[in-house]
Amino acid sequence: MGKVTVGAAVIGGAAVCAAAAYIVRFRMRNSDPYVKCGDIVKELEEKCRTPVSKLRHIADAMTVEMHAGLASEGGSKLKMLITYVDNLPTRDEQGVYYALDLGGTNFRVLRVQLAGKSGIEYKEFAEVSIPPELMVGAPEALFDYIAAELAKFIASENEKFRLLPGRQRELGFTFSFPVLQLSIDSGTLIRWTKGFSIGEMVGKDVVAELRKAMDRQGVDMRVSALVNDTVGTLAGGRYDNKDVAVAVILGTGSNAAYVERAQAIPKWHGPHPKSGEMVINMEWGNFKSSHLPLTEYDNTMDAESLNPGEQIYEKLISGMYLGELLRRVLYRMANEAALFGDMVPPKLKTQFILRTPEMCAMHHDTSPDLKVVGEKLKDILEIPNTPLSTRKIVVEVCNIIATRGARLAAAGILGILKKIGRDGFRDGAIPEIVIAMDGGLYEHYTKYRNCLEKTLEELVGDKVANHVKLILSNDGSGIGAALLAACHSQYI
Ligand code: GLC
Repeated sequence: MGKVTVGAAVIGGAAVCAAAAYIVRFRMRNSDPYVKCGDIVKELEEKCRTPVSKLRHIADAMTVEMHAGLASEGGSKLKMLITYVDNLPTRDEQGVYYALDLGGTNFRVLRVQLAGKSGIEYKEFAEVSIPPELMVGAPEALFDYIAAELAKFIASENEKFRLLPGRQRELGFTFSFPVLQLSIDSGTLIRWTKGFSIGEMVGKDVVAELRKAMDRQGVDMRVSALVNDTVGTLAGGRYDNKDVAVAVILGTGSNAAYVERAQAIPKWHGPHPKSGEMVINMEWGNFKSSHLPLTEYDNTMDAESLNPGEQIYEKLISGMYLGELLRRVLYRMANEAALFGDMVPPKLKTQFILRTPEMCAMHHDTSPDLKVVGEKLKDILEIPNTPLSTRKIVVEVCNIIATRGARLAAAGILGILKKIGRDGFRDGAIPEIVIAMDGGLYEHYTKYRNCLEKTLEELVGDKVANHVKLILSNDGSGIGAALLAACHSQYI
């Protein structure tokens, strides 16, 4: 090392930098990588800690922000959007209804035949992935693509589905982005989230855009309800269980909706609905609090994202981002502590290359040699033959990131329960409450889901936990939109 330093002094400034870099690299190669990686893991663990006291602060902050967002437009980072959904399905609904569910990398079209108290007689759906270029292109391209798929799907309708004579088909449109709703069947896009970015659409009526595309594609159908996926999930959940009053999505993005008393919405200036209630789309993904345990990885991911400074809570807890956070930590370990040997694997530099389903598979690997982890590292990052010690580190990082996300999501749910007075006794008893859950992260990432549920129990305590149920409302958002189209049918 002395030799390098002497040489550098002789050959000038630029070379000093190069030599310094060489020294750093030299030191790293000679140190035990696992010791350094251990330090990085320890530091990450420390910064991601979510003790119950912190979670309680976060839940309280969520409750405070909910009040503020309901009080006035722009009163909080939480939009607390009025949905115009003041009646949820009752099982009186009859007939065939369609839904179109757009909000992630895939979209779905579905139809249901509703048979009153007997429930859903038939349902059929088709799922189509959205070409990435359409997520950032022109609005017409995206909406034409959707409307064309809808047209194909309608053409495949058979006689099981019975449209009453003289009636027009009706559709519930699940559009899972923040929308300022103007009525049950219209609303303007506030901003994009989850990697979508079609500037021209912001401020435009989403249903009007869809209608234009439907006209262009020759689709004759009425859009009777425009809903967020959380609202659809709430409606779908309520159809099956009358105690459902909250819905949470944990998928590509994350959000929650719940049933609020109209009186508790000071910014609502319309006539109070007959039910006295209104569903609120919280857009909780945009929640932010000084109590959130943010790390350097979160901050840089946010700064480099399409929506810096926004959706901070979503970036900590949802499926779009967990895998990317893992990549960022591994990249630092590769760079600073030679986790994968002398070279930083080039693939590891690609943003979003590690997707959350992959992270989930590695996290759940129970084989003694962590075979799945080895395979994923090889297949996705092109890192062959990783030693077991390296694989163990990867699993540890998965665990830290997923645990933090799941615990923070549980704190958010506690915040809602507090807001609606369901976090303890009410009038001498503990009322039952059911939370409809949907989204791939919740459905498929078992460790995340278990951790969320355990944390919620821990937060509300055993007694209340017996009265708070989380149910997977699979497909809820799409079916719920069809149900809401039925509740808000033009023929009622
Ligand atoms: C994002 C959207 C929100 C949606 C959620 C889950 O947070 O802004 O509207 O409900 O993702 O899909």
